[in-house]
Amino acid sequence: MTTTATLKTSNVWHPFTQAKTADPPLRVRRGRGAILELEDGKQIIDCISSWWVNIHGHCHPEIARAIYEQANLLEHVIFAGFTHEPAELLAKEVLRHLPDHLQHVFFSDNGTTAVEVALKMAYQYWQNKGVTGRTRFIALEEGYHGETVGAMSLGRTMPFFKRFEPLLFEVDLIPFPATWQGDTERQEKEERALSALAALLETHPNRHACILIEPLVQGVGGMRMCSEDFIRSLTQACKNAGLLTIYDEVMTGFGRTGEWFACHRAKTDPDIICLAKGLTAGFMSMALTIASNEIYQSFYSDDLQKALFHSHSYMGNALACTAANASLKLLEANPESFTRLQALHQSKSEEYLNENKRLERLRILGTIFACDVVSHQSTGYFNNLGLLLRRKFLERGCLIRPLGNTIYLMPPYCITEDELTSIYRTIGDVVSSL
Ligand SMILES: Cc1ncc(COP(=O)(O)O)c(C=O)c1O
Repeated sequence: MTTTATLKTSNVWHPFTQAKTADPPLRVRRGRGAILELEDGKQIIDCISSWWVNIHGHCHPEIARAIYEQANLLEHVIFAGFTHEPAELLAKEVLRHLPDHLQHVFFSDNGTTAVEVALKMAYQYWQNKGVTGRTRFIALEEGYHGETVGAMSLGRTMPFFKRFEPLLFEVDLIPFPATWQGDTERQEKEERALSALAALLETHPNRHACILIEPLVQGVGGMRMCSEDFIRSLTQACKNAGLLTIYDEVMTGFGRTGEWFACHRAKTDPDIICLAKGLTAGFMSMALTIASNEIYQSFYSDDLQKALFHSHSYMGNALACTAANASLKLLEANPESFTRLQALHQSKSEEYLNENKRLERLRILGTIFACDVVSHQSTGYFNNLGLLLRRKFLERGCLIRPLGNTIYLMPPYCITEDELTSIYRTIGDVVSSL
């Protein structure tokens, strides 16, 4: 008889992990700044802000204090028919940093739900306006928007969604013109992508409710970057054709691209923007879907059927709103926190990686660095190098989680220059030793 003691299993089911073959998860005792301390005392530099969320590093005392104080006042209240100061303050403060026409903030729990809400808003917008036929979505190849069936449908080219294909609804896909330092074919790739979009919109002029994109950087798809010009041209083409533009800034928001939001960097104005991850700086789970006044007005009616029937038990959670307000205050007090990293990435990658023959397609945007390890296997998420590199980086005290053969850094903004130097040196050494 098998006893539980003899099984190599845990009661905790970890995500994106084959429990049977994976190394056991590392037990973390505490975190401070960019450093995680394990139960055995070993220290690890968090080079990716955990899953891209801890923008101020771990356990920032001001955010912790704000949550504690709010918890003694009001932790949560049903968000239909009730409101509270932390939510109203957050809506007001976040809107100050977004294009003027974005005026209405809908709360939910994570990046995936922020996207799902945006898709439902766009779909219903046309119905509320009495327009039939605009029921289909456009997305970019290799895009990722989360894990529900709607978000997976738009991110359907991700290899790990393959087995769910029969469940997914149809979407029109446009190529993404990924580019990098020294890329000589950028213009041709952009022209191809824009021509594909133009052809689609011309063939089906009134078919699409919206386009959903990750502006400037496709994260999970391999930290693939594109130019600001491309995002501007794509957005303009969609606006000219009358469909809504949704920016999934779940990852790019709150400074990641070196500006508050990617839409500023690209000088564009989407109709809907989705935010999560850095919003609460890793303390609480929360997301926002922010819509233009025009979209909101299409729901504003005497007709109850025109309301947005979407809710979550924890939406508008007062502790999460408080965490977000405290994080925004820190960002406003230190705007250089996210602007200083681009120059550091540039100088450190030039010093430690540029000459490494095993690395290619180096790219930097704001606080993000990425490059690919030359590989003879097919590239992408299931490239075996990912797991091997992850282990080697951990042995050297760095939490870096390559996406297949793509190595990337997305550090907390508080990371020190010494910590970055040691990370870049580690990448250079590990890659050379392969
Ligand atoms: C661009 C983008 N959209 C949506 C999501 C989903 O967010 P969450 O993991 O919070 O559901 C992610 C997560 O990595 C993301 O990078």
